[in-house]
Amino acid sequence: MNTRISIVMAAAVAGLLIFAFGCNSVVKSGENMERSSKDLLSAGRRLVNFNSDWRFAKGDQPGAEAAEFDDSAWQAVRLPHDWAISGPFNPKENGYAGKLPWKGVGWYRKTFALDKADSGRRVCFDFDGVMAFPKVYVNGQLAGEWDYGYMSFRVDATPYVKFDGTNVIAVQVDTRNHGTRWYPGAGIYRKVTMTVCEPVHVAHWGTFITIPDVSDSSATVRVQTTIDNHLDAESEVTVEVALLDPDGREVAKGTKNEAIPAAGSRELDQSLVVANPRRWDIANPKIYTARAIVRMGKKIVDADATNFGIRTFKFTADDGFYLNGRRVQLYGVNLHHDHGPLGAAFYTRAMERQLEIMRDMGVNAIRTSHNPPSPELLDLCDRMGFVVWDEAFDKWDDKADRVKGQPPLETYGEKQIRNLVMRDRNHPCVVIWSIGNEIGNQPYDKEGTSPERVKFMSDFVRKYDSTRPVGISCHIPATADEPILDSLDLTGWNYARRYANYRQRYPDKPIIYSESASALSTRGFYELPLPNGKTEFSKQLQVDSYDLNSAAWSDIPDVEFKLMEDDNFVAGEFVWTGFDYLGEPTPFSQEARSSYFGIVDLCGIPKDRFYLYRSYWRGDVTTIHILPHWNWPDRVGQNVPVFVYTNGDSAELFLNGKSLGRRTKGQLPERPANFAQGKPAEASSIESGNGHVAVNATDADRSTRWCAADAGADQWWQVDLGEVRPIRYLAVDFEKEEKNYGYQIKVSTDASTWQGIVTKSTSRYPQWGGPSRIFHEVDTQARYVRIEFTDLREGTWASIREFGVYPEKVESDYYAVTYKYRLRWNDVVYEPGELKAVAYKYGKKISQAVMRTAGKPAKIRLTPDRRKLAATGEDLCYILVEALDADGTLCPLADNPVRFEVEGPAEIAGVGNGNPLSLEPFQSDSRKLFYGKAVLILRTIDRKAGTVRITAQSDGLAPADVIVQCR
Ligand code: GAL
Repeated sequence: MNTRISIVMAAAVAGLLIFAFGCNSVVKSGENMERSSKDLLSAGRRLVNFNSDWRFAKGDQPGAEAAEFDDSAWQAVRLPHDWAISGPFNPKENGYAGKLPWKGVGWYRKTFALDKADSGRRVCFDFDGVMAFPKVYVNGQLAGEWDYGYMSFRVDATPYVKFDGTNVIAVQVDTRNHGTRWYPGAGIYRKVTMTVCEPVHVAHWGTFITIPDVSDSSATVRVQTTIDNHLDAESEVTVEVALLDPDGREVAKGTKNEAIPAAGSRELDQSLVVANPRRWDIANPKIYTARAIVRMGKKIVDADATNFGIRTFKFTADDGFYLNGRRVQLYGVNLHHDHGPLGAAFYTRAMERQLEIMRDMGVNAIRTSHNPPSPELLDLCDRMGFVVWDEAFDKWDDKADRVKGQPPLETYGEKQIRNLVMRDRNHPCVVIWSIGNEIGNQPYDKEGTSPERVKFMSDFVRKYDSTRPVGISCHIPATADEPILDSLDLTGWNYARRYANYRQRYPDKPIIYSESASALSTRGFYELPLPNGKTEFSKQLQVDSYDLNSAAWSDIPDVEFKLMEDDNFVAGEFVWTGFDYLGEPTPFSQEARSSYFGIVDLCGIPKDRFYLYRSYWRGDVTTIHILPHWNWPDRVGQNVPVFVYTNGDSAELFLNGKSLGRRTKGQLPERPANFAQGKPAEASSIESGNGHVAVNATDADRSTRWCAADAGADQWWQVDLGEVRPIRYLAVDFEKEEKNYGYQIKVSTDASTWQGIVTKSTSRYPQWGGPSRIFHEVDTQARYVRIEFTDLREGTWASIREFGVYPEKVESDYYAVTYKYRLRWNDVVYEPGELKAVAYKYGKKISQAVMRTAGKPAKIRLTPDRRKLAATGEDLCYILVEALDADGTLCPLADNPVRFEVEGPAEIAGVGNGNPLSLEPFQSDSRKLFYGKAVLILRTIDRKAGTVRITAQSDGLAPADVIVQCR
């Protein structure tokens, strides 16, 4: 097979002037004098952080767009702001969107003054994201609006502002027509920047950097700079572009003159050469900066700085992803846009922390499921070294804010994709543009894909950037049977190897596993006995943390590890999801309010699964993690299985000093004998000509099967065990997913009197995939076991690969793969005390871990993630709150309520504990612990420096406090 896609390029960052951003000070423009490079970069243009001093009111506010409207009774707020996250939760509502009050109308207003000296300059507002359908009024007039809640947009307010006296900006936000499958948030949830610049300036997102040639000795950097001229006269400009290396040293420079037409724009194209370029890479991300200075005559009218990276990459059809010539397996995660207790409100530090946690686990790739991210996410990925799948939409219907199919996809798609690609195309981290997620196909899905629609959407991307591949995430294998995906460079596929059909039909196109796993668990929750099927869920509305559960359409992590090893043409996986998120609480969609999919919980506390991924993805780093906890007062003398996740290849487990044996990865445990194996079997009929005889279901070979002669439902199959046997467990492995079969299982001692012991009907769920094996716990004695089919879904014939009859419960062979990646002691008899695991790699001890039985909760421990914060109103400190016993051992079952007090210049931004069922408010000064832990998120206050003391108290526990500094 040939590799078709070989995109060799490098890219750049359309980062605005980060150092200029955030200062409210006025930088005077147009002076012709020597300046430091920092001054140069802020010359001609002023970026004002516009996040503070807003007023907010929920509901319709007639007349609120007018400048003179009285908003004194409104709530004072600071952006980013999500009005719905403070609740209250509606317990009766389905959990798909978090049970939070995000639907409705809200208004924001802010009064501001401009400098008289700015008169004649342009004034624009840059919104990074407003949920949803914002209408922006300036001094009572509609200055702009936008129709996609996740997209960044600019409002040119120049015609409406006054340079003397006060101005009022009012924003109406309306989420009522926004469609969603998760919690979207509500309000101005990302930053707002006011840009004041000269009438002649670098256009918004007007710098485009590409790198057509890269070698070890040199790189050609092409800088296209679009200049806007708002003057009535043609203007001669000089654009000087300098390239700064990662240490800030100038390494190339070029100048170009051009006449920019009156009230028009023109692009200036320059190519510069960088000698011995230092690569941007996930391992060591080196960032260059292109500095553009725009002059009219001698006067500097604008300056712009754009970060970029020099790197090559390609996606291949047969050997995955290459970065700078090296094959890199993508260890990716999907991340939704919310930040748990903070809701949709975007804080750079919250994002940075998410990425730090993911990085620690071994993640090197992020999919921004399923929407344009906050621009800071990409800045962070550039800086920290992650590659990014940058996604435009989830569906093309009202979830993309196309209400009732309007505006037409062709106009709407171009508008949104333009902003996405123009905004993000310089980021070296971005390696894929995605035009959408799981979009159904026309005509079944009215707003779905067709060859024409996919073509024009991907061509829109290429119009603004042709240097990266364009893809989509697919979920319907049959999509590949039609020419729908022809115009894409690559495709992502979600779950259960659904890419198999595509692989056959498009052997020359690269594949990414854009969603894998969808495994489920609740941090800290364990229930015994272990589930014996991926969708065997606890009745307690939590999901067992032994990591044996997943959604019906997907799989546990180990299945995906193995799949990626087997299908190494795939570039790698993006796990669904790195973090828990608000909404979509499969499998308890009605009862819960946040997901169970996360590898870490909603507050960022690792679940056990974190260590499973870490031990596999980071073979180079020592991981050793024991589960479950060791507090089982009701199970003394009973079985409590113990798993160890380690990058070692084996480990020895000790309970109170006594060895429970050494386990090695890849070693399968012994299983009880299957009474049916090798025994005579008969059936109502057999499919003639194909040799699908009855004994194929007792030959211990999954590749052979019994199959009936036709698709009729009145078929049976039975086995003679030879003698009466005690039967506790039946395991049936069907040809197709078990959902297709309805049947009764009967037993007999003499083959004439039968007793029914199991009845099961067909089901339509899940929509795709699902297990083919089914287990039934029974309690009987018999010599003959018979299955009588009662109902078969269309296209299904009665057909069995293997039939198992067991004297005791057996583990589903679905879980055999877990022994390759985890070390499991299934038969541990619980006694309190100390569990110790000692891990080995290549025969050498690498580390050990200990898990102790905790006594009663005695004290609180507070652990801040940082102790020095910036007094900006936007910096955060995450404080882990835990209950310990008198000896300092974590109490894994503690659920004590904890109250917090903050003294000094900081405030509580949110609290949480990772419990998907909790309806306690996120904005509060108290929180119950959940399995021993909770998190308090502290936010600094703008320009208020000082010492902050956080105290935590809980009745009956010794309190704790911690000090952080805000500077
Ligand atoms: C996928 C979908 C995701 C999420 C996930 C849960 O099919 O693309 O958005 O819903 O399922 O498993």
